[in-house]
Amino acid sequence: MALPPESDARPEAGPPTRVRLIGRALNATVAHAPWLWPVLKRPMTTYFDDLANTWDERTGAPGVDHLAPLAVAVTKIDRRPERALDIGTGTGVAALFVAREFPYASVRGVDVSEEMIRQAKAKVGLDPEGRVAFQVADSSSLPYGDGDFDLVTLLNMPPFFSEIARVLRHGGHAIVAASSGAGTPFYTPDAVLERGFKRHGMTTVKAGVIGRGSYFVARKGD
Ligand SMILES: C[S@@+](CC[C@H](N)C(=O)[O-])C[C@H]1O[C@@H](n2cnc3c(N)ncnc32)[C@H](O)[C@@H]1O
Repeated sequence: MALPPESDARPEAGPPTRVRLIGRALNATVAHAPWLWPVLKRPMTTYFDDLANTWDERTGAPGVDHLAPLAVAVTKIDRRPERALDIGTGTGVAALFVAREFPYASVRGVDVSEEMIRQAKAKVGLDPEGRVAFQVADSSSLPYGDGDFDLVTLLNMPPFFSEIARVLRHGGHAIVAASSGAGTPFYTPDAVLERGFKRHGMTTVKAGVIGRGSYFVARKGD
């Protein structure tokens, strides 16, 4: 994948202002007041169910620009993961990218939207060992055990810090990436990510910008 250059600038671009403002408000609610999520869950799920069919076409999700910040972020982790989880996987593009990048890892992708998961499942080809699997699940209450994963990724998705930290093993990494940087509807500023992860025993590894996208990498433990 030919990537755009890395830089320190944080360009504002992406979807229309109204979508971006609503997304930012929802994102801030999840990051700062996750207990309000039960009120938001139903409208959010319906919204993404309705978008699922056309998501890849509208957002260019399988393309280089969409995936670039994730592609750079995975180069900042020091160990190849064996078990990876993509949260808010949508049509599964980030999970499938991680599966390609780490051919020995088993990869799971979860999303609250059944329609999104249907699209993601349709992308998995022949996989007799079940290395890549998708399921409907809510990231505020993940159906996995403590320390089950070496790597958790979120691409254009608000972070539920406590659940990310819980399902990561000690020394495991979390990546939060935004395809349009600060212009992404579900964008979480670095300072919020740093504070949120720190509260849950995680340290910042690296934050950066690539093209119009941005990424943040944190590790569980010191
Ligand atoms: C902006 S889309 C991003 C999809 C995909 N990661 C991508 O970049 O193409 C956000 C996704 O997160 C899902 N989502 C939102 N809140 C969630 C939650 N609490 N648990 C699981 N999925 C959630 C939505 O259904 C939607 O598919």
